[in-house]
Amino acid sequence: MSKRAERKIEHIQHAMSTGQQLKNGLEDITFVHQSLPNLSVNDIDLSTQVGELFLSSPLLINAMTGGGGEDTRIINEALSKAAGETNIAVAVGSQMSAIKDKSERPSYEIMRKVNPNGVIFANLGSEATVEQAKVAIDMLDANALQIHLNVVQELVMPEGDRDFTNALKRIENITKHISVPVIVKEVGFGINREFAFKLKEVGITAIDVGGYGGTNFSKIENLRRQRVLSFFNAWGISTAASIAEIHSENQNISIIGSGGIQNALDVAKAIALGSSMVGMAGYLLKIFIEGSYDDLVQEIKDILEDLKIIMTALGVSTIQELKQAPLVINGQTHHWLTERGIH
Ligand code: FNR
Repeated sequence: MSKRAERKIEHIQHAMSTGQQLKNGLEDITFVHQSLPNLSVNDIDLSTQVGELFLSSPLLINAMTGGGGEDTRIINEALSKAAGETNIAVAVGSQMSAIKDKSERPSYEIMRKVNPNGVIFANLGSEATVEQAKVAIDMLDANALQIHLNVVQELVMPEGDRDFTNALKRIENITKHISVPVIVKEVGFGINREFAFKLKEVGITAIDVGGYGGTNFSKIENLRRQRVLSFFNAWGISTAASIAEIHSENQNISIIGSGGIQNALDVAKAIALGSSMVGMAGYLLKIFIEGSYDDLVQEIKDILEDLKIIMTALGVSTIQELKQAPLVINGQTHHWLTERGIH
């Protein structure tokens, strides 16, 4: 097995063992209860818009690399098929290895085969070139391209990148030269509003905050290191703070809320803070790996059903209305936003 494939398998094992954390800031959010909402569960419409994409549901199975070869195929097939069956979007894990090694492509292409009409996002890192971006999109006939930013993860990896120069320029170039929307995403350390503004300036219309409080790539990579960089284990902007930061000043950028999302209430809170879509990665992978394909499909259906129930209680019939639902921000998230001058 190649070193890259070994690393991917370790990622999954360590992601399962380090698990999802309990605090991503959404525990600081409380909805203002509505005693008599004037609508029925049947009135709820979950459709949403992210950048130029129109979607029938706000849920996304976020990017996860498989273990290389057969493991990648099994995971990609299950995630994409489940997304198709439940009518939600799905992102593939980084395609760089399949770009470099053509023999790996079938285990990625399977995603489109089992989900011919669904919304699928391609995925590459910010080291990608325009040509590589085009290959990644073609491989899946993708509806959008995610470009992930994972600086802390790379720094914790002994064999990781050390030079992050010119990445914004490459992102801008890709945005200009490909035909589908580009989504810039973090992987668990959050995105601040100043950087979101820079992304908007280079033409990005959708940002996935990938906030702190869920899967923790510092902990995952530290498990593979001899000399541990523990100072990165509690590093990052929480999911709630990151969404609220970006939303406060970038109303015309679409936000994908993600990082430690585990249930419909988390989804609702992430939307009410300003997200148009909500991504779940580690939690859903765990359900598939420790359970079955049927468990995965059932969990997604339950989350969508629960979201409709929560929206009914709040008296909001659309995602747009849920974005305006009144809420109170407590604790650490309130403190963070006050310190950052956001009210
Ligand atoms: C990831 N994630 C990820 N992101 C990305 O853009 N490209 C990738 O290849 C991967 N690979 C990957 C593997 C595994 C096993 C996990 C658990 C995650 C990051 C993922 O998309 C997401 O941003 C973070 O995991 C935070 O969301 P959760 O897991 O807290 O819901």
